[in-house]
Amino acid sequence: MSPAWYIDGLPHIWPPYGNFPADFDPLPVVGAEGCRLTLADGRELIDGIASWWSAAHGYQHPHIISALHAQLDTLPHVMFAGLAHEQAYTLAKRLTAITPGGWEKGKGLTRVFFSDSGSVAAEVAMKIALQYWLNMGKPKKDRFICLNDGYHGDTFGAMSVSDPANGLHRAFRNNVIKHFAIPIPTDEYSFEELKETLDAVAGQVAALIMEPLVQGAGGMKFHSADTLGAIHRLCVEREILFIADEIATGFYRTGSRFACDEAGIVPDILCLGKGLSGGVLPLAATLTKESIYEAFLGEGEGGPRERALAHGPTYMANALACAAANASLDLFQREPRRDQVEAIEVQLLAELTSLKAAPGVKDVRVKGAIGVVQLDIPRPQLYAMRPQFVAEGVWLRPFADIVYTTPPLTITAEELSTVTGAMQRVVRAWSEGA
Ligand SMILES: Cc1ncc(COP(=O)(O)O)c(C=O)c1O
Repeated sequence: MSPAWYIDGLPHIWPPYGNFPADFDPLPVVGAEGCRLTLADGRELIDGIASWWSAAHGYQHPHIISALHAQLDTLPHVMFAGLAHEQAYTLAKRLTAITPGGWEKGKGLTRVFFSDSGSVAAEVAMKIALQYWLNMGKPKKDRFICLNDGYHGDTFGAMSVSDPANGLHRAFRNNVIKHFAIPIPTDEYSFEELKETLDAVAGQVAALIMEPLVQGAGGMKFHSADTLGAIHRLCVEREILFIADEIATGFYRTGSRFACDEAGIVPDILCLGKGLSGGVLPLAATLTKESIYEAFLGEGEGGPRERALAHGPTYMANALACAAANASLDLFQREPRRDQVEAIEVQLLAELTSLKAAPGVKDVRVKGAIGVVQLDIPRPQLYAMRPQFVAEGVWLRPFADIVYTTPPLTITAEELSTVTGAMQRVVRAWSEGA
């Protein structure tokens, strides 16, 4: 029996990405602790996707909760234009210390622009890249290079650099600015092709934007650190800014603290979100090198406003969200997240790889705390798996042609086995019937 608030509210909710399958209504959640969600009817589900891979430390971590209580009692929010507060300033300094390049002079990311969602962090990155070249006297560099299967959010700028063909944003294909979408190079030949494309368009291009190592919403596709390093090098050699969207990959999800670290590269602009606040409040950040920030200083022909970045969300650097993020960074520092991800990776490989042999399974791949089973399956059959996972006591949300898990990094071995066991059973049942 669903609670009254659920029955009364359901006809008024517009759910994200629509409701699939149509007969599977959202599940009423009344609590969450560790890696478990409690439903209104008392059932518990192990969360295998960590609230869209944001709840890196699990739910209700006492350190984050007490930081939030303390902040709530002093300053939940204050506007960020012309005013300052400790949580944001401390967080900005800490982020510049731990992101690729660190405080190495002239190399690292020194400036942080806070916003309230990953999509907006990507928008801000794009605006910074465009205006950087405008301020540098190169207004023709006003296009982006993006990758097939990429995803950077649902707002217009972000949609324009997400894969135009991957379906999600197809309805808007005539409403977004066209950029240069390229495949990820996989061999010497395709690298040569990429080089030629970049040579041809560099004069028109502000930046290349990509998700390093793992393309998430585009189907959880992986590429190597060598490929990432090579693409970055091609950009550096051609005056193309490199935007790393680490909204999903940041904070150990792929194994290293940031995916860029595995390739040893420092992007010009970096986007963070999701695990940044430990999955409790909306917060995202766009970081840049000092040389980029400097291009926005001084007076333009029309006065100082002309060179400045015209962006400033109402809830920019919300103090509660920044307090959660500072507490989240404490946990990334003091708890063994890297080791936990290593253990998750080993376990996912051990418990999922056998599915490779099942009929209809196209691929099984694992990277850090990401486990993916790719199927040759019609979408309705894939969506039908969602309630089957609930019946197994786990929360997973297959999409496109994949069943995947991105659990909280704090998941226990036993809980993870429950998740992988459910993946085994549900996929095999489909595979045998297919
Ligand atoms: C790589 C990447 N960029 C951007 C976004 C958009 O973030 P948000 O949903 O917070 O707007 C996502 C969300 O999944 C993402 O995975």
